[in-house]
Amino acid sequence: MDIIPKPYHYEEFPGFFMILPKTMIRVFPANQTVLRTVKHFTDKIYELSEINLPIVENKNFSSFTINFQISKTDLGKEGYKLNINARYILLEAETEIGLFYGIQSLIQIIFKDLKYSPYLMIPTAKIEDKPRFEWRGMLLDVSRHFFDVDFIKRYIDYLSMFKFNIFHWHLTDDNGWRIEIKKYPELQKISAWRAERKGIDWRDCEPQKPNEKTNYGGYYSQKEIKEIIEYAAERHVTIIPEIEMPGHSLEVLAAFPDLSCSKGQYYVATGAYWPNKDILCAGNDAVFEFLENVLDEVVELFPTKYIHIGGDEANKAEWKKCNLCQKRIKEENLKDENDLQSWFIKKIADYLSKKGKQIIGWEEILEGNISTDSIIMSWKGKSVEIEAVKSGHKVVMCPQTHCYFDHYQADPSNEPVAIGGFTDLKKVYDFNPIPKELDKKESEYILGVQGNLWTEWIDSSEHAEYMIFPRMMALAEIAWNNQEKNWEDFKRRVNRELKEFDKKNINYCNHSFPEE
Ligand code: ACM
Ligand code: ZN
Repeated sequence: MDIIPKPYHYEEFPGFFMILPKTMIRVFPANQTVLRTVKHFTDKIYELSEINLPIVENKNFSSFTINFQISKTDLGKEGYKLNINARYILLEAETEIGLFYGIQSLIQIIFKDLKYSPYLMIPTAKIEDKPRFEWRGMLLDVSRHFFDVDFIKRYIDYLSMFKFNIFHWHLTDDNGWRIEIKKYPELQKISAWRAERKGIDWRDCEPQKPNEKTNYGGYYSQKEIKEIIEYAAERHVTIIPEIEMPGHSLEVLAAFPDLSCSKGQYYVATGAYWPNKDILCAGNDAVFEFLENVLDEVVELFPTKYIHIGGDEANKAEWKKCNLCQKRIKEENLKDENDLQSWFIKKIADYLSKKGKQIIGWEEILEGNISTDSIIMSWKGKSVEIEAVKSGHKVVMCPQTHCYFDHYQADPSNEPVAIGGFTDLKKVYDFNPIPKELDKKESEYILGVQGNLWTEWIDSSEHAEYMIFPRMMALAEIAWNNQEKNWEDFKRRVNRELKEFDKKNINYCNHSFPEE
């Protein structure tokens, strides 16, 4: 079956269903959400054949028709059942989400072969499908390089094609602030812009000089963000916004130096910023006032229950030297600066909790006593998930060893410059996100998996596509399917899909199978 990710259960038969100009679509019930979902299918048919299929509402199934229907399938809210034969197609699901995923499968197997027919054909099969994990995510870092609204929508399209349901939007970092916050125009004016160092290796960029003009950057207006959230929702993709704190926030200090410990002159980082020593001051109440005001607008914009608050790689050198931070440690009876980080994160988590939101953070938020309703992202590849799960946390697996798509995917001598690492397609395909140390019950705390595209070295949409494809297809298999793996069969399906990418002008790494 030429579907990525591979369906949970399927049987293939000889023959085709042919989409003729007189083919009808039957929908039941024809409510707004179902019709909106079916439109993804009819739009695709129109794009491929210029045939506008008529839609009728009818409770009763009919032959010579493509039937979309909400019914009991016992395959969960995202599952679907598909029966394709020469006389009809019947797609059933318990919700419009299941219908949407069934449509994604149909779209992948539609083909045209002019030797047989001028019409679109769909191969005969019976499929029962449902996902393995509830969290099937992809991160895009828009701070290190900025990507326009059109590409963000395309990224969401790619997610939904391969049945991912979470877009983790890394909106803020040392290299640029990318979300409009109406209360703080300085974030748009100053934090969103840096001095460009075009053609210079990311590690060698000179910092911005005093009085130098900033000329690289941008941000998403709240209007654009609303439009993107709506676009994602129509594709059953939830957007998790990330606002980094307390580290990875040099761009904030560039606009608001008083929120730092040393109150120096700061500039938005032009390239690598490491060691990332400047940090929001944990002893200054104005920092929390600022963050709470920012989060108020974030919460207002994003309907998701979860807000990602970063928390990774917070360098504590400044906190060690800062009177206010040390005073806070004393007053709050904290052990040390690591404890101060926990206190910081907990304060933000409590604030968000009052607004009905829960936090997600990188694995470092586990340092200290963070409440178990916070979700942990395991990224260092050091098995922190075992400790996290055993202490009652839910975990998303994105270890850099298997899920960092900024790593090299083939022999570096033939590749565009990358951050380093080596994570080829086979390695992603072989990823096992459930540690053997967890028993069956504990394994349920592993919510799912996520691929992370950090963009230090990636400054164009073509390059971003190159880095995620085809690795994202391998991750889709891990995220969706829990059946026995078959590398040869996966390779065949990837190669077929990449031929479709050629027609659609989607970029990808075309030498992911070194054995060939
Ligand atoms: C990370 O890669 N610093 C989460
Ligand atoms: Zn301080």
